[in-house]
Amino acid sequence: MDGSFTLPRDASTSDPLRIAVMISGGGSGLASILSYESFGSRFFRTVLVLADSNEAGGLGHARKAGIDSIGIPLPEIGNKKEQRLKHEELIHEQLEEYNTELIILAGYMRIFTPVFVSKWKGRLINIHPSLLPKYPGAHAHRDALADGAVISGCTVHFVDEGVDTGRIIAQSEVPVLTGDSIGDLQERVKMAEHALYPRTIDAIAENPSLFIDRQDG
Ligand code: GRF
Repeated sequence: MDGSFTLPRDASTSDPLRIAVMISGGGSGLASILSYESFGSRFFRTVLVLADSNEAGGLGHARKAGIDSIGIPLPEIGNKKEQRLKHEELIHEQLEEYNTELIILAGYMRIFTPVFVSKWKGRLINIHPSLLPKYPGAHAHRDALADGAVISGCTVHFVDEGVDTGRIIAQSEVPVLTGDSIGDLQERVKMAEHALYPRTIDAIAENPSLFIDRQDG
């Protein structure tokens, strides 16, 4: 069940880690990564952007930056399980084609099967809009508000077979203010994400083993 965990190599600024960013929506997180990358010498380089549809707004950010960006919609297969596995195969092929060394999920809204996770474990990273282990899943802000949280934030973590259960890499806190709507909290957390994610990716690319024994929660 717990497949092997393979970290990416230690990259350098002269030979940066080849990352693929995966999105489903507007891609503000992707934009923050591309912007960080364009100002200075970094340990990673975005070589590919993948979305699970051709309509994902964020594909435009990559195209503007001259990065190959591909929408891979679910294939037309009636059996849901087969459809999911085939979709992941198509994604995996593209990732291999681009010699991807690290996958960065930035608002990618699908859960990967253990088959896919086992191929990339240790080289598959996500950002989640809460302070995990609090509020995993697709409704983090709604759940934080319903719980009366006064602090929320975001978490960068390795992806494992569970939903938002992988090893924590970095977190950033954000206050929840009286009267916040889901949208207010989402925007405030996104600002923290945009500051945290690019520099965390850079730090992982420089020295991945630094993050593997840390279990801050
Ligand atoms: C982010 O809040 C991310 O944490 C969550 O989905 C949102 C994506 O936003 N998983 P965007 O598409 O990057 O604007």
